[in-house]
Amino acid sequence: MIKAYTQATFIFLFICFTAVGNYVFAQSDTAIDKRVATLLAKMTLDEKIGQMNQYNGDWDATGPVTKDVGNKLDEIREGRVGAVLNIMGTAHVKTFQDAAMKSRLKIPLLFGQDVIHGYRITFPIPLAEACSWDMDMIEKAERIAATEASASGINWTFAPMVDIARDPRWGRVMEGAGEDPFLGARIASARVTGFQGDSLGSTDAVMACAKHFAAYGAAIGGRDYNSVDMSNYTLWSIYLPPFKAALDAGVATFMNSFNDLNGIPATGNSYLQRDVLKGKWDFKGFVVSDWGSIGEMINHGYVKDNYEAAQVAITAGNDMDMESRSYINNLKQLMADGKVPVSMIDESVTRILRKKFELGLFDDPYKFINAQRERTSLNRPENVEFARDMARKSIVLLKNDKQVLPLSKDLKTIALIGPLVKAKKELKGFWSLDVDPKENVVSLWEGMQKQIGPLTKMLYAPGCDITDASRIGFADAIAAAKQADVVVMAMGEKPDMTGEAKSKSNIHLPGVQEELIKAVAATGKPVIVILMAGRPMIFNWTADNVPGILYAWWLGSEGGDAMADVMFGAYNPSGKLTMTFPRSEGQIPIYYNHYNTGRPALNDNDLFYKSAYIDLPNSPRYPFGYGLSYTTFQYSDLESDKLTSTIKDNETISFSFLVENTGKYAGEETVQLYIRALVSQPLRPVKELRDFRKVRLLPGEKRRIVFTINRALLAGYNNNLDYVAHPGDYQLMFGSSSADIRLQKTIQLVN
Ligand code: BGC
Repeated sequence: MIKAYTQATFIFLFICFTAVGNYVFAQSDTAIDKRVATLLAKMTLDEKIGQMNQYNGDWDATGPVTKDVGNKLDEIREGRVGAVLNIMGTAHVKTFQDAAMKSRLKIPLLFGQDVIHGYRITFPIPLAEACSWDMDMIEKAERIAATEASASGINWTFAPMVDIARDPRWGRVMEGAGEDPFLGARIASARVTGFQGDSLGSTDAVMACAKHFAAYGAAIGGRDYNSVDMSNYTLWSIYLPPFKAALDAGVATFMNSFNDLNGIPATGNSYLQRDVLKGKWDFKGFVVSDWGSIGEMINHGYVKDNYEAAQVAITAGNDMDMESRSYINNLKQLMADGKVPVSMIDESVTRILRKKFELGLFDDPYKFINAQRERTSLNRPENVEFARDMARKSIVLLKNDKQVLPLSKDLKTIALIGPLVKAKKELKGFWSLDVDPKENVVSLWEGMQKQIGPLTKMLYAPGCDITDASRIGFADAIAAAKQADVVVMAMGEKPDMTGEAKSKSNIHLPGVQEELIKAVAATGKPVIVILMAGRPMIFNWTADNVPGILYAWWLGSEGGDAMADVMFGAYNPSGKLTMTFPRSEGQIPIYYNHYNTGRPALNDNDLFYKSAYIDLPNSPRYPFGYGLSYTTFQYSDLESDKLTSTIKDNETISFSFLVENTGKYAGEETVQLYIRALVSQPLRPVKELRDFRKVRLLPGEKRRIVFTINRALLAGYNNNLDYVAHPGDYQLMFGSSSADIRLQKTIQLVN
């Protein structure tokens, strides 16, 4: 009896506690709303418009800086600025926050920064990290980035970039997660959670920003800033899911984009910002423009001048103006002219102030400005170690004929050849924050030197430059190769060949590098090529003729150690591509989740009347989801938990199978589940990734992997853009890549 009473009391207290917890939470939300309303009531129109205005700091710009603008600190003191970007380091940040504290209402500034792949410690570029398919690692990388950035005074990162990209000519593919909406959504969520931590009020959390809303990755021809022409079906099925996932993860802000979408610049697009984001999705944060993108609507030819640009942008739901000065110079007049109601301005200001309150800036405007914390938070050894692990997991093994890798540590001579062997700062890639020139980036040369055995000699010859046509260095490279047991060639792009405004029409390995590979391979020595780049490149001769190929992207500050770990087998590579690698630029755009045509090519030789090229196979060089390991994995024994293969209503059906490590090394496999709706209106792709599992197995070890299928997992958009699962047959495909399906089963969904 006593026991029962105690239990009941416990349950009662638990319910009360939970209820009180919720109540307190609701209260605090209301409390913030009240504080915002009180402050708003005290603000003049100029002060309100000031909150909607963001300036670049006094260094480093990613776009044209507005000229002749007077003294920014004076403007901050006058309450004419709500946020700044590119101000880093507590001392510098303090100067600006001090100015804000001299304004009439002492409204603190937001400090934004492109913390894209690490702050002081540089992680692999986002596209590389995506190849790890490891959500915990990706989240942790952002947690570390947020800890470092917030210790330097930053409270807002312009990340994650969640644009789906199907065109490797586009320079910004490096910033995203690749081509798949499902994986992109998972990664978007992990990144937002990593940046924002437990809650925005934490001292080590920064606001995240889902960008670029929307469809920026589909720029025609892969040319940055270009137009996008797309059906709503594709927009919703492919391009919007990562944004929705970021929103569901609680992302504080959105950034719109430079492109026009079906003839309407995204910055002035009410459908995207008002109807979808703030309407259907009920987003409570604020939307910032991209750099100057409000004013750029003039260049688009969408508006006549900044006055019209400001009117269109705010009407479409853009809350803050980054660097175009359209709001600060025109909103007041627009209001006086009756073209913009004050309620619209109040809405934007409310959204912005709410985030400042949530960050805790009104309680302590200096909470991110603590020089002592800054000293102890940057470059912490455990975080550097983590960056090395993240880098190893981002490497993709593309080819390993005759198990040419891993290398023995007892080789007598290894020749390291290529323009990137000793590269250091290059490894950090585009969008890295070079705040500390003394920072120690580990090169491939240094990484390997640390790991070779005492009797191994390493030779070096650059052979050629990345882009230069000179072949003068070939002779030395060939001579070095001839003396070696194995040749390792580090080749690729320059880091600034990807990134913003870095689109390319030719994505072949640049310069004479592939010629150098041919010349070195002609020595007959085993050759391993490590490719470093921010995008998928084309290197057909190498792919056909060289036995070992690793794709190492830009791996960040610990890249050299990570590459050496993989090279010598301290780490067994496990990365899987998240973008399709084409054989030729002519295949672009190329992606695995396409529809079938009415005359599908059944194989690469199936040319007559089929939807294939007559001069090129349809298949890519390397497919989505592809990546080898030093070991092999076998899939077998597919079974289900039901006697029938039919599911109805809210039923689920589980499939399980064995994955066995059949090779000699411990390793990690990413098991991928693709589905295909066999008959569907509108069409559904031939394959859609819908789940995956990472499994680590010792040699000989096997494990049963379970996937549970429900309606939601099979769903897609219908003609009315409702997300539904049509009754019908669905093929389930379990595989090691999108082109390597090991087990499959068809199930029926009934109403
Ligand atoms: C980029 C954004 C970036 C902004 C601020 C723009 O040029 O498109 O992604 O966040 O600059 O640096």
